[in-house]
Amino acid sequence: MADEPETPGATIEDYLLEDRTFPPPPAFKAVALVVDTTMYDAANEDFEGFWARQAADLITWQRPWDTVLDWQLPFAKWFVGGRLNASENCLDRHVEAGLGERVAFHWEGEPGDTRTLTYADLLAEVQRFANVLKGLGVEKGDRVAIYMPMIPELPVALLACARVGAAHSVVFGGFSADSLSDRINDAECKVVVTADGGWRRGQPGLLKPTVDVALASTPSVEHVVVVDRIASSGGEAEVAMTDGRDHWYHELMAEAATECAPEPMDSEDLLYLLYTSGTTGKPKGIMHTTGGYLTQVAFTHKYVFDLHPETDVYWCTADVGWVTGHSYIVYGPLANGATSVMYEGTPDTPGRDRFWDLVERYQVSILYTAPTAIRTFMKWGAAEPEKHDLSSLRVLGSVGEPINPEAWIWYHEHIGASRCPIVDTWWQTETGAIMISPLPGATTTKPGSATFPLPGIAAELVDNDAEVVPRGGGYLTLTRPWPAMLRGIYGDPERYRDTYWSRFEGRYFAGDGAKIDSDGYLWVLGRVDDVMNISGHRISTTEVESALVDNPKVAEAAVVGAKDDVTGQAIVAFVTLRGGVEPGAGVGEELRDHVANKIGKISRPKTIVFTDDLPKTRSGKIMRRLLRDVAEGRELGDTTTLADPAVVEEIRKRAMSAPSDD
Ligand code: WTA
Repeated sequence: MADEPETPGATIEDYLLEDRTFPPPPAFKAVALVVDTTMYDAANEDFEGFWARQAADLITWQRPWDTVLDWQLPFAKWFVGGRLNASENCLDRHVEAGLGERVAFHWEGEPGDTRTLTYADLLAEVQRFANVLKGLGVEKGDRVAIYMPMIPELPVALLACARVGAAHSVVFGGFSADSLSDRINDAECKVVVTADGGWRRGQPGLLKPTVDVALASTPSVEHVVVVDRIASSGGEAEVAMTDGRDHWYHELMAEAATECAPEPMDSEDLLYLLYTSGTTGKPKGIMHTTGGYLTQVAFTHKYVFDLHPETDVYWCTADVGWVTGHSYIVYGPLANGATSVMYEGTPDTPGRDRFWDLVERYQVSILYTAPTAIRTFMKWGAAEPEKHDLSSLRVLGSVGEPINPEAWIWYHEHIGASRCPIVDTWWQTETGAIMISPLPGATTTKPGSATFPLPGIAAELVDNDAEVVPRGGGYLTLTRPWPAMLRGIYGDPERYRDTYWSRFEGRYFAGDGAKIDSDGYLWVLGRVDDVMNISGHRISTTEVESALVDNPKVAEAAVVGAKDDVTGQAIVAFVTLRGGVEPGAGVGEELRDHVANKIGKISRPKTIVFTDDLPKTRSGKIMRRLLRDVAEGRELGDTTTLADPAVVEEIRKRAMSAPSDD
């Protein structure tokens, strides 16, 4: 059983800089849209009409919809009866409009190799790959798993799936073989698209060997397509190819026909699945469909970043393995005909100025990155960005976790030259698109606040009894359907209802705590459930606990996310070993590796505290809040509901001397 969400509000004061405001810079021209209160008011008066206007303006439909919204709480259908194809919206229509020579991606590999893909190039490659997929038996309605590095073939694979009407399920390259096979099996994927590996910190990070392990237990997979990335860029990658199952991308592409008409898709046909961690051990396959999703990602990408596709160069530093990459590297920017930078590697290779070098060389004007990255840059020092001319920058974005005011101000001063508006964008895998954010040139910002819900979006805070909290701390809920909202959890409609719609009647519960200040600004404070946020990545405490107890040396484990200066939160595990096993650094290392192998490197605990017992309520529930206090070295709260209060004191002593992974 998941813990009850905690009452948010305890640590709110840490975040607030309520009085510091940044008006829209006078030199800044939000000419894409004259955003004033009338836009918000009109959208709120008639949100269906508002979204219908966006869908008509921004998206090309093969057949118009009959009904804007069919809302049977909690199940929504948007633009019912409409037909369209996402890849056609991202590619064909731009080429047909004469924009074939516009650059879609300035791609740069970590070793420094580059590729420039125009919209015409991308369309040609996507059509060929769509034919490759068809040749491997992929049909409309099938699922295709994608496990790839950040190379151009990754967006190509997504768009080719969309073109033939197969849903893609991208699994981040940092996940383990077990995580990959679980996701493949849940969706019964027919084909896997992968690569020999990708470059990270100057080294080849291999992917195909992990796929081979995963595929030992995935009966649905018939074929694997492998991009030759490492070997073709001078690296060593031994790849075992299984006859009849595994194929080289370049070989199939050489033989593929050049044209593939986009499959007409219903507005509500599945576009993709993306698995995300919840409060139980089993990841949820979040379902996104076509028409509503595309409408909202295009709308937000255009207005939140004040995109001028003719002149802007946009760079989202996320990995396509996460939702940010789906919505704001692939579908949003391409639907809008934007020119993007796409980068394969890490920000410290070859030097700590790699990002700023990229910004300068490609003249990036819109940069969208994560607070973890910003805090890392802060730690490396302002001298790194100062080596480069960043004057092309116009708009800065932040996503993934609450941004602390110090990082916001550093970003504003050292990257944005105190000139670029910052959009702090709150949203989730489940929301599909940005929900709460300033609009550049229109919203007066405060460092650390995501400000206000976008036009058409309605958010409210509520307390434990579902009473609305107009000012102060509460749970963040959404009160009306939105076009890009998840349509469910793959194969589990009940879990969808339970997880998101049952705690507060008629409301979507986001899992975040938030506060509304005296000026009405919204401050998202972080998760109030059993989900951790490590470097902007969602990781479930329960999933890490299951991985730990899966090791025969472990009797019991409790995992918490403790505050961390760089990664936002860090994973701290409290572990009770089985009788006869002696705690020590060796066992700690073994357990950390065990978790990395079970789930993926991103889930490796930073600290392991060995303890003879765990603090539990009388009903036997582990008190994670107390453990978090211990992990963060805070004063302990009320422990009177504990079965054995002495346990906490003991744990606290041990935590002080626990080995950690720095
Ligand atoms: C957190 C990432 C504060 C939040 C797009 C949410 C944020 C979770 C912000 C979703 C932000 C994301 N301010 N918190 N601007 N953006 N979050 O599904 O806790 O990977 O619930 O989607 O990240 O993470 P997910």
